[in-house]
Amino acid sequence: MHVIERLELLLKEAQQAIQSAGNARALEEVRVKYLGKSGLVTEVLKGLSQIAPETRPQVGKASNDVKNRITELLELKQEGFESKGGSELPLGWDPTLPGRRQPMGKMHPLTRVQQEICGIFKSFGFDQVEGSDVETDYYNFQALNVPPDHPARDAQDTFYLQKGLLLRTHMSPIQVRVMEKLKPPFKFVAPGKVYRHEAIDATHHHIFHQVEGVLVDKGIHFGHLKGILDNWVKKFFGSKVETRFRPSFFPFTEPSAEVDISCVFCQGKGCRICKQSGWVEMMGCGMIHPVVFENCRIDPNEWTGFAFGMGVERLTMFKYDIDDIRLFYQNDLRFLKQF
Ligand code: DAH
Repeated sequence: MHVIERLELLLKEAQQAIQSAGNARALEEVRVKYLGKSGLVTEVLKGLSQIAPETRPQVGKASNDVKNRITELLELKQEGFESKGGSELPLGWDPTLPGRRQPMGKMHPLTRVQQEICGIFKSFGFDQVEGSDVETDYYNFQALNVPPDHPARDAQDTFYLQKGLLLRTHMSPIQVRVMEKLKPPFKFVAPGKVYRHEAIDATHHHIFHQVEGVLVDKGIHFGHLKGILDNWVKKFFGSKVETRFRPSFFPFTEPSAEVDISCVFCQGKGCRICKQSGWVEMMGCGMIHPVVFENCRIDPNEWTGFAFGMGVERLTMFKYDIDDIRLFYQNDLRFLKQF
């Protein structure tokens, strides 16, 4: 009767194992352990030929009963999993099938480039600040030395809101907002959206992005401005790229300059992108005008500084040879996936 006792013990063990199986995978392991090809119950059945012929039918029946009982219990438990919907690994599920790849979202190219621009300035020790898209005429124009009838307003067609508010036409109002609050020395960059009432074409959009920068300290002169911006250009575009500072005009800086960089596509030889000139205009800059300092109650005899402003779309278009600004705003995945 030794074999029959062993079978009873196996049934008990199997019962317990089935009961405590928490999911279909565990249940399958129990089935393999007892009823699989070399399972414990299967082995007993295989060994029948070695048993004395008189007891063989009895043992045979007992082991079949145990096998059937275990099968029944397994099925019951499996049904329980399925009706609860809690099966971690339902029968018929093939864990060796390759998984389905989920598409991953990415940062918009403008966000990436904006972070890259500011990241380089932060590595130079600049802070990053933010302003509001809605501004007053005072901060957007007057405090920046642009009086109401100044012709410089023509170049920045403004979206006016109610109650004397407007959408900022550039990031420069942040200069006044920060300088009113902080005592020099300081240096910061400010990225953000700006708005202009312009017709949209391949190079113009009524919403675009700028990064504004300011550095104020004692004894700051144009050489510092050139040094910082030349270093920034070399980090952003590559160490072989050269800068050229051309005299320009902005009401809020004196002197003012436009920064050109040598064309990265033809190394300054002249091509379609730089319109055969070898140079591409990249940003505006200058020494902060004494009137702007005075408007912020900073003494221009004690402190000097420089400011600059650059267009994120323009930089991105140049860096990646994109010829239409509208691509940034069409949400076409064929375009966005390339970055
Ligand atoms: N605000 C100017 C624009 O939108 C860009 C600019 C030029 C900013 C010179 C500056 C600067 O801070 O010094 O065209």
